Amino acid sequence: MTADADEADADEEADTETAGSGAKPVAGRPGLLGRRRARRRVSTSQRRRRSSALVLALGLLATGVLWTLLAPGGNAASASDSNEAVRQGRALYLQGCSTCHGLGAQGSSTGPSLIGVGAAAVDFQVSTGRMPLAAPAAQADRKAPIYSDTQIAQLAAYIDSLGGGPEIPKVDDTALDDAALSKGGELYRANCAQCHQAVAQGAPLTYGKFAPSLDGSTATQIIEAMRTGPESMPVFGDRQINEEDAVAVAAYVRHLTDAPSPGGFSLGKYGPVPEGLLAILVGIGGLLAVCLWIGARQKR
Ligand code: HEC
Ligand code: HEC
Repeated sequence: MTADADEADADEEADTETAGSGAKPVAGRPGLLGRRRARRRVSTSQRRRRSSALVLALGLLATGVLWTLLAPGGNAASASDSNEAVRQGRALYLQGCSTCHGLGAQGSSTGPSLIGVGAAAVDFQVSTGRMPLAAPAAQADRKAPIYSDTQIAQLAAYIDSLGGGPEIPKVDDTALDDAALSKGGELYRANCAQCHQAVAQGAPLTYGKFAPSLDGSTATQIIEAMRTGPESMPVFGDRQINEEDAVAVAAYVRHLTDAPSPGGFSLGKYGPVPEGLLAILVGIGGLLAVCLWIGARQKR
């Protein structure tokens, strides 16, 4: 090493020392060395100033980007969206439902309280046309819905805002296609068939009530019915039938009601009894008629 390089080294050390300790530069070393050091100190402090400005700018930029990406912007928009839905839903509710369910959905003599029934109950009742009820009856019938999907969502948002409750289930087609039909069938026969019958065509219950046919029910409505238990139907909660199994039941019901009848005339899918009856009446009855006809011809 040359003396010059040594000097430079020493210089470097001194510099890092000052930078490290943050203390004032060591004063008083005279001559060429001192000037060189001074020049170098100026350039490093300039560089340092420039780089800290750059870091500051980058930091600000990153904060700005992160703010726009993550921070309240999006949430604020969706929160005000849902507030708007609740507001619209309340207006629809006051107009179409409050006469029976009360101004604050607390219930009245003509309709039960809706606090805590959840968005699922509203979506089920209104999308199947059961609500708004036209007049008191033993049981609300399925009808064409009078509210649009958007309005139903707004009504549901309003009722949900009053006290929570079961959410509207989200079922996608792939989940339905992939569902285990055999498991769904097992659960259906164990839990639903006693009222809705083996092939979901429905049947009368007591006191003018009836378990309706499930022909027109969508998968969403089937799960909503399980979760909310309309009228005399029991509630099937998450613990009895979990989410995956509920989708399997829905898939099975859709399969039952959509499946073609490879055997031809399905006779309303009432099962072996009407089929046997038809065989006796038409089949044996027909044979008897033919026999009688032959007998009558031979007498002559
Ligand atoms: C003429 C009176 C009447 C009107 C109007 C009416 N309802 Fe009902 N509602 C009832 C009665 C009675 C029941 C209970 C009997 C039943 O479920 O069939 C009921 C039940 C319900 C339920 C089920 C509650 C539960 O415990 O699961 C929901 C949800 C509901 N109504 C929502 C509505 C909404 C939303 C509207 C307005 C679009 C509306 N109703 C309009 C009388 C009414
Ligand atoms: C105790 C009898 C009973 C049992 C058990 C029962 N239901 Fe129901 N279900 C009913 C009645 C009654 C209604 C009609 C409710 C109304 O009109 O408000 C109904 C309505 C429904 C509807 C609505 C159909 C429509 O017209 O839109 C569906 C879907 C449904 N049930 C599915 C099921 C499934 C799935 C199960 C089994 C997990 C089940 N039910 C078990 C009695 C029953």
